[in-house]
Amino acid sequence: MRVLGIETSCDETAAAVVENGKTILSNIVATQIPFHAEFQGVVPEIASRKHTEWIYAVTKTALDEAGISPADVDGVAVTGEPGMLGSLLVGVNFAKAFAYMERLPFITVNHILGHLYASRLGETAPDYPFLGLLVSGGHSIICRADNFDAITVLGTTIDDAVGEAFDKTAKYYRLGYPGGAVIDKLAQDGDATAFRFPMPNLYKGEHRYDFSYSGLKTAVINQLDQFRVKQEPTTPADLAASFQKTAVDVLLRSLFRAVEDTGLTTVVAGGGVAANSYLRACLADRPDVHAIFPPLPLCGDNAAMIAGLGYQYLARGDRSALTAVASSRTQGFKKKYP
Ligand code: KG4
Ligand code: ZN
Repeated sequence: MRVLGIETSCDETAAAVVENGKTILSNIVATQIPFHAEFQGVVPEIASRKHTEWIYAVTKTALDEAGISPADVDGVAVTGEPGMLGSLLVGVNFAKAFAYMERLPFITVNHILGHLYASRLGETAPDYPFLGLLVSGGHSIICRADNFDAITVLGTTIDDAVGEAFDKTAKYYRLGYPGGAVIDKLAQDGDATAFRFPMPNLYKGEHRYDFSYSGLKTAVINQLDQFRVKQEPTTPADLAASFQKTAVDVLLRSLFRAVEDTGLTTVVAGGGVAANSYLRACLADRPDVHAIFPPLPLCGDNAAMIAGLGYQYLARGDRSALTAVASSRTQGFKKKYP
């Protein structure tokens, strides 16, 4: 079964064709980064306009690269939630029109579950259950995954997402946009012990696996003021390495607590921040954890993960109505504390 996947939840216009939820026949990602860079963040109105302009060409390219025509597609999957509503609507309506024209089964899927599915398009597809670490510009979630569509959120950020912390740090220090990859690269030449940033201390009761980035963000901004007051140069590489170490250590502290408590030693990562080299190195260093990462091009937003996940629903017989609506928020993940 060949599924056409469409993803327009944020600032990538993406389409892909995936066979049987596993084999990527094409994976086209048209990034809008240059259009948002001057604003140092995603501008929703620009994003939805670019999706509208590009969605047809991106989908056509995905079909061409897969070597198929619309008549060869067996099903259509699209990100229906969560994301920026105006952007989601472009993809959802385009996917509906495609499915209607070709009389194809149609399904809307959750973007976060898509990120969790991404690693299944790589070499290893672990058995359920496992722990998921979903880390991106909009989400930071530690969860237990019992199936492709069944996760229980154990911990999450109580304020900023981890990718957002990278992006904001890069913005304050004018390092570039988006901040994650820039900081990751700068940090390679930096001293991670140059600055000591605070780690949040939640970890009690229902917040056992939760974490927070607002304190780290404030400390990073305060450090910038220190540089200004003392008229010292900003040492961006040391700053990047110290920030990155703290940001990732915050996540891992909660993750390892969840590993210990649940006894689930397989950790599947996903989302843009799963590309981070320090995060990957830390997990690789832990003999008690089997960490699985998506291939690098599938960490960030892409439609292959949406097509792959969509296949699982379609193969099971699930369908969305052509009246299905997009939603900016996730509808109904369970949050449960062991
Ligand atoms: O999954 P994604 O493409 O979009 C969302 O769903 O948000 O994630 C984008 C986020 C951005 O915040 C970006 O700065 C971050 O992923 N990111 C990274 C790295 N590459 C991208 N963060 C840390 N290290 C990286 N190498
Ligand atoms: Zn994403």
